[in-house]
Amino acid sequence: MLRSVSREFRTIVKHARSCSSTSAQSQRLQGKVALITGAASGLGKATAHQFIQHGAQVIIADINYDLGQQVADELGPKAHFVQCDVTVEAQVKDAVDNAIARHGKLDIMYNNAGIVGPSVPPSIADLNLDEFNKVMKINVGGVIAGIKHAARVMIPAGYGSILCTASICGIMGGFGPHPYNISKFTIHGIVKSAASDLCKNGIRINCISPGPIPTPMSVGQIAHFYPGSTREKIVEMMNGLGELKGAKCEEIDVAKAALYLASDEAKYITGHNLVVDGGLTSFKTLNMPNPN
Ligand SMILES: NC(=O)c1ccc[n+]([C@@H]2O[C@H](COP(=O)([O-])OP(=O)(O)OC[C@H]3O[C@@H](n4cnc5c(N)ncnc54)[C@H](O)[C@@H]3O)[C@@H](O)[C@H]2O)c1
Repeated sequence: MLRSVSREFRTIVKHARSCSSTSAQSQRLQGKVALITGAASGLGKATAHQFIQHGAQVIIADINYDLGQQVADELGPKAHFVQCDVTVEAQVKDAVDNAIARHGKLDIMYNNAGIVGPSVPPSIADLNLDEFNKVMKINVGGVIAGIKHAARVMIPAGYGSILCTASICGIMGGFGPHPYNISKFTIHGIVKSAASDLCKNGIRINCISPGPIPTPMSVGQIAHFYPGSTREKIVEMMNGLGELKGAKCEEIDVAKAALYLASDEAKYITGHNLVVDGGLTSFKTLNMPNPN
């Protein structure tokens, strides 16, 4: 009798433990405060949604006022919108200060805002340096401003997780226009340089390199090369680019990678580039013709 009671007790405890670990798993950012730039659309929006589902408060910082406000309303009371142009350092500073004023801390800074810039001309011989500088100002300058101001508030706190969106265009040449490619190659360098400095303060910094994912930015970009093509055709074409068959790269895949890197589960990971591309930049499947 005593033995069966103790067995029952052990079963109850085991069940309770598994329930509490399930709820801990489903609230991996409980109590955390995150700021995501470029979160009014695409990958940033999907990540904001994912972070909120895991218990975080999220500041959506975006240049687009109407869309940003609309997304914050859509995501509910844990989301708050601040208008911010990442090329203006004072606005990045204000967005970070807004998180501190509202929540008393900043645990996660995700520097995600970016543009592709003009898709033409294809040749570097025709590169317009003004256009190049514009892309670098957003994709690189905006990321650096975000890291700087996140570090400003994270260093005294002695912790924090900073993320940046790079791209497969920063791993192999030829996927995008030169200014975009160059800007994204730069992100890994920034991350490693900042990681070497911030590690002594307990702050982690990593980047994510997504493969092609249909968002307003990428679909708009590819549409230039296929005039007259429908959005559906372009999405279908993009979905076929990965080497991993039976799966396609979606916004949620980046959001989940960001969730992992932002959470304490990645507590020993810093200076890393997490590539989310279905093998696109790792290998090439050779479809050798049949010799017969
Ligand atoms: N979609 C892809 O295939 C893909 C692949 C690899 C990397 N990326 C990168 O992911 C990031 C997000 O892109 P996306 O595909 O979600 O595009 P998107 O156009 O859907 O979202 C980009 C967001 O950034 C905002 N933004 C643009 N300029 C800004 C500025 N100066 N200040 C603040 N916000 C600004 C836009 O308003 C928009 O809400 C970018 O850095 C992009 O380079 C995208």
